[in-house]
Amino acid sequence: MEQYIIKGGNPLVGEVEIGGAKNAALAILAAAIMTDETVRIDNLPDVRDINVLLEAIEMIGATVDRVDRHTVRINGSTIGDVSVDYEYIKKIRASYYLLGALLGKYKKAEVPLPGGCNIGSRPIDQHLKGFRALGASVDILHGAIVARASSLEGSHIFLDMVSVGATINIMMAASMARGRTIIENAAREPHVVDVANFLNSMGANIKGAGTDVIRIRGVEQLHATDYSIVPDMIEAGTYMTAAAATKGDILIKNVIPKHLEATTAKLVEIGCQIEEFDDAVRVIASRRLRRTHVKTLPYPGFPTDMQPQMAVVLTMSEGTSIVTESIFENRFKYADELARMGADIKVEGNSAIIDGVERLTGARVSAPDLRAGAALVIAGLAADGITMVDDIVYVQRGYEDFEGKLSSLGANIQRVFSEKEAQKFKLRIG
Ligand code: EPZ
Repeated sequence: MEQYIIKGGNPLVGEVEIGGAKNAALAILAAAIMTDETVRIDNLPDVRDINVLLEAIEMIGATVDRVDRHTVRINGSTIGDVSVDYEYIKKIRASYYLLGALLGKYKKAEVPLPGGCNIGSRPIDQHLKGFRALGASVDILHGAIVARASSLEGSHIFLDMVSVGATINIMMAASMARGRTIIENAAREPHVVDVANFLNSMGANIKGAGTDVIRIRGVEQLHATDYSIVPDMIEAGTYMTAAAATKGDILIKNVIPKHLEATTAKLVEIGCQIEEFDDAVRVIASRRLRRTHVKTLPYPGFPTDMQPQMAVVLTMSEGTSIVTESIFENRFKYADELARMGADIKVEGNSAIIDGVERLTGARVSAPDLRAGAALVIAGLAADGITMVDDIVYVQRGYEDFEGKLSSLGANIQRVFSEKEAQKFKLRIG
C-alpha cells in the first residue's frame, strides 16, 4: 500500500534538476544491443521502466554493467536468445523496441504482443507494417510477434499516422537493412532525434530525424559509442505546471528550452511569467491564472504527456477551459479523481470541459496512469488540506525521486507504506 501523502498550500519555490528522457532512454537501451562492442550510456533516469528494460536486455543474454544509477555499459555480443519473455512486455510496453533492434541485427526477433494500457488500446500495426516493408515476415503466434528475414532491404514507408514508437522501431531495423529506407509521416519528437543521434554515433547513417521524412542508408555493422541521453521534456514540463498550480517560482535546470515551447506558450497565455536561459527555464505564477483551450498534437504541438498536468492547472484558472486529447482515446481517467477534489470537470468524447474553481480540497485519490498520477500529485500540492494518492507505482515508472525533488521545492509530501506512517505524517505537519 505505497502512497503519497501531501499537505497542500505551499507555493513551490527553488531549483530542480531534470534527468534524462525516459522515452529516449528506453529506445536507446534497446538499440545498444545492435553492436557486439561495448556501449556506454549516461544521464539515464533511474526509474522503474528503465530498470525493467535493463533486466529484459540481460535476460536475452546481453552483458549489462550498471556503473551507477544514471550510467550503464551494455555489450550485445553475448546475446543468445532473440525472444523476450512475456513478463517484461507486461511490465513495460517499450520492450517492443527490442523487436526493431533484434530484427535489425539478427534478422529475427520474437516479442510478446503488448496489451493495451490505461490510456488506450495502443496497437502496433504501423511497427509491423514497417518491418514487412523491409522484407521481414511478421506473424502473431501464441500472443507473440515473430519476425524473420533472410535479409532486410530498404523501402519507402508511409506511416498511416504519426507514431513515435513505429518511427523509432522501423528506424532501428532499417539502420542495418541493405540500401535506402525513407520513412514518411515520421514522428518529430526530440526523443526520436535522440535515438537517431545515438544510432549515428554507432555508425548508422540516418538523416532527417526531427522532420517528417527520415532517410536511412543501411550499414553492415554498428560499433561502440559513449552517449548521454537528452533531458526529459515531460519531466521538465511537469515541474513547470507544478509552479503554475501552486503559484510558485521554480528554476528548472538541465533542459532544452526549445523542446518545451508548446508548454511554455500555453503557460504564458494563461498568465505565467517564464524566463528562458540556455539550459534552464524559470516559471513564476503570482496571481490567479486565466482559461485557455488546449489540444494535444504530435510534436511540436502540445504534448499528450503533458495533458493531465495542464488540466490540473486549468481546474483552478478563471473561466471555462477545454482540453482536447487527439492522440489517445482514453486519457481522461483522472477527471473523476479531480472531481473528488472539487474540480468542475466534465469529459465529453475526447474533450474535457473545465470550469475553474478558486481552490481544490484534499482528498484520497488513485493514480490511473503515469502522467495522470503526476497530475494528481500537483493537484494535491495546490489543494487545501491533505491529499493521499494511491497506486503511485505508476508515477515511479517515469519520475525519479518525485517526492524528493518536490520536497526540496518546499512541498509537504511523503511516500508512505502504511496507514500508521500516514497518521504520523498528519500529526507531524498538523
Ligand atoms: C510514445 O508512445 C510514448 N511512450 C508515450 O509516452 C507518448 O504519449 C506517445 O509516444 C506520444 O508522444 C514511449 O515513448 C515509451 P505513438 P507510443 O505510437 O510510441 C496510435 C508516457 O507517459 N498507433 O506515437 O506508443 C496509438 O494508439 C507515455 O511517457 C497506432 O494506431 O505512441 C496512439 O493513438 C504514454 N498504431 C497514436 O498512434 C501503431 O502502430 C500515437 O501513438 C502505433 C501507434
